[in-house]
Amino acid sequence: MIDALAATVLTRLRDAVGERHVVVDPQVLAGRSRDFTGRYVGTAAALVRPGSTAEVAALVAVARAEGIALVTQGGNTGLVGGSVPLHGEVIVSTERLDAIDEVDGRAGRITAGAGVTIARLHDAALGAGWAYGIDLASRDSATLGGTIATNAGGLRFVRHGGTRQQLLGIEAVLGTGAIVSRLGGLAKDNTGYDLAGLLCGSEGTLGIVTRACVRLVPEPECRAVALVGCVTVEAAVELGLALRRIVEGLEAVELFLDTGMALVRERFGLPAPLKSSPRAYLLVEVATNVDPTTSLAAALEAVAAGADTAVAVDPGRRAELWRYREGHTEAINGIGVPHKLDVTLPDGVLASFVDEIEAVVTTVVPGASVWCFGHVADGNIHVNVTGVDPHDDRVDDVVLRHVISLGGSISAEHGIGTAKLPWLAAARAPGDLAAFRAIKSALDPDRVCNPHVLS
Ligand code: FAD
Ligand code: MLT
Ligand code: ZN
Repeated sequence: MIDALAATVLTRLRDAVGERHVVVDPQVLAGRSRDFTGRYVGTAAALVRPGSTAEVAALVAVARAEGIALVTQGGNTGLVGGSVPLHGEVIVSTERLDAIDEVDGRAGRITAGAGVTIARLHDAALGAGWAYGIDLASRDSATLGGTIATNAGGLRFVRHGGTRQQLLGIEAVLGTGAIVSRLGGLAKDNTGYDLAGLLCGSEGTLGIVTRACVRLVPEPECRAVALVGCVTVEAAVELGLALRRIVEGLEAVELFLDTGMALVRERFGLPAPLKSSPRAYLLVEVATNVDPTTSLAAALEAVAAGADTAVAVDPGRRAELWRYREGHTEAINGIGVPHKLDVTLPDGVLASFVDEIEAVVTTVVPGASVWCFGHVADGNIHVNVTGVDPHDDRVDDVVLRHVISLGGSISAEHGIGTAKLPWLAAARAPGDLAAFRAIKSALDPDRVCNPHVLS
């Protein structure tokens, strides 16, 4: 495929995006062919960097005519092996689609290119007196297009929902080559099928998102963060549920365990944040227009009297507490290539799932280490397993089948990618899968868009 590209297709790709924006340097390609975890490593025939929707359309036309497969790449922070060329695909980087076209400070919405990072989107929104409802630890690299393609959830889901809930409109080039563009930003618009909603979460398999319009939310004036030590996982889960009922302005409710705390502290050289050494930690953030410290303290006193707690209000101290939670992904990566299983459990079984999952995993791979953390208010737990060969799928199999048997989801927020593909049929009904296939063949009949992902 690489030879064929060199002979004929490269010229057409250069015609589509300009000579400078077709990259064939092996070192650059190698760096962009490896995912964040190191578990998924491929080889690319080339990397192309379109600078406009028209150039993306031209690329898709070349791909269809020449029979080449494309894999779209934003920040390459995806965790399911969906953003790298595992079958020699051409990488379409969205890095030049990086314009913030418009912040509508009156209506509270922003229109931006797919390659704009979430951190830049936050800065632009804050500059106009608003905030963006999606936030995640990968904010400095993850892009608007990538978060739309994965329907990213993140740290503020409990308050604002996921990416699909923020989406007011989209511009994209479908696998058919058609450009769909609806960026008017209307809050209510039931004129036919919701193409933006469909492309959101489609993982680049139906087309390439080039621009989007998303809603903004008011930025509260005050924030407070509490890190609460809990004697058991169940106590932490119950506390999270209770706080959801009684605390106004709850922005995040995150769970992690003593093992993860020790790993993060060791990796980053951090001090112990609490006096005690509890089994589980609940990190809670509240954001309101009046100082939430007193109401948060009262709520904690009501439902977790006497719990070992650290509270932070000023930004620097808040960030320090968040570090214990946000440092998990990097700290786990630091001890080996992880198997990352991102699951949702139904209400009532989450705590026992977390307590039992290590035994489930070590039954099939004795000696494996299990790290659990996640967005507990959404029922979403990240089960990370280290000490297992990257190609050994047995832990993925046992965990995902266990989740299915409990009525949970095998992909809460990261997507299916290539990592979860073997379990998709076990997780969705035959009718669902037939509908997936019909949508794929209607919008990407030549299978040029991420053909090895999701379907
Ligand atoms: P990429 O990784 O480049 O791509 C992801 C998928 O989207 C691929 O299938 C790719 O082909 C497709 N794609 C990318 N751009 C486009 C486009 N313009 N058009 C069509 N398809 C496209 N995820 C969460 O949901 N919640 C979290 O809290 C969270 N935290 C994270 C923390 C860390 C430290 C890391 C490393 C990852 C985290 N993630 C999280 C996962 C990841 O950041 C998200 O999946 C994110 O949405 C990926 O964005 P990206 O720009 O990096 O996309
Ligand atoms: C998180 O919540 O931190 C992310 O989804 C990243 C991960 O699962 O490692
Ligand atoms: Zn997450």
